[in-house]
Amino acid sequence: MKTQPLDGAFGAQVLDVNLADAADEAFAKDLRELLLRERLLVFRGQHLDARSLRDVGRCLGTLDVHPFIESVEGVPEVVAIVKEAEEKRNFGGAWHSEVSFYEQPAMGTMLYAVETPDEGGDTLLADGVRAYDALPEETKARIANLKAIHSAAHVYGEGGYYQDRATGAAAGTKTRDMEAAQGRVAHPIVRTHPETGEKILYVNLAFTVGIEGMADDQARPFLNELIRHATDEAFVTRLRWEPGTLAMWDNRSTQHNALNDYTGQRREMLRVVIEGDRPI
Ligand code: SIN
Repeated sequence: MKTQPLDGAFGAQVLDVNLADAADEAFAKDLRELLLRERLLVFRGQHLDARSLRDVGRCLGTLDVHPFIESVEGVPEVVAIVKEAEEKRNFGGAWHSEVSFYEQPAMGTMLYAVETPDEGGDTLLADGVRAYDALPEETKARIANLKAIHSAAHVYGEGGYYQDRATGAAAGTKTRDMEAAQGRVAHPIVRTHPETGEKILYVNLAFTVGIEGMADDQARPFLNELIRHATDEAFVTRLRWEPGTLAMWDNRSTQHNALNDYTGQRREMLRVVIEGDRPI
């Protein structure tokens, strides 16, 4: 596959692939290798719908069915991430790694742009390998054996961010099962990539809520410091969407943040998430 580097800290644009025709075994192998190397791949000018996106997603593995977001009808692996023109709530608008609150968080995400604002609605992505490498040695030693607690309770749970829809406000991205979002899981703050062996700084603002064995008043400021570092501009690529753009990223080694700067305009994306394994 022919690629060119993206503007920003990492990632590549793939130039010569029509994804709707490409989903065979040889392509899947090349795609995985490229994704492991680049961590973020962007394909422009694609023509996909929920079913063909699902087929492309399967090139990377088994697809997740999200417990808290309603699927596209008839295609349970695909969710529509929609922000209506009059809506204020922004889905994915805090730094996060997909479903890090699962025991086995996602391996990867594919996000396809159906409708985009004229300006704004970019997604920021941060490279957790570079972020880890750039940490001072004393911080690396301090976090080497620490585990962080991840939970979606305050996001998808009762009283959480997505409960706005209960007030009747427009909600483009449909959520469900708020009662089931209360779980907590511990993952290493430094995870090792299961395929490349790279070390990754694995904490995020949306779902990382504490540190195992540490009081909250100590853990929160330390987590904030780590998250600020992980999302420093030096490690970030800003992805500009247009209809027909498909981006895929490795969720083990990156985190992302959808910007909410397009008031009055509609944005619609289709997403699949590829299942992953337990962080070690
Ligand atoms: C997500 O967090 O998966 C969605 C990001 C976006 O809509 O840009």
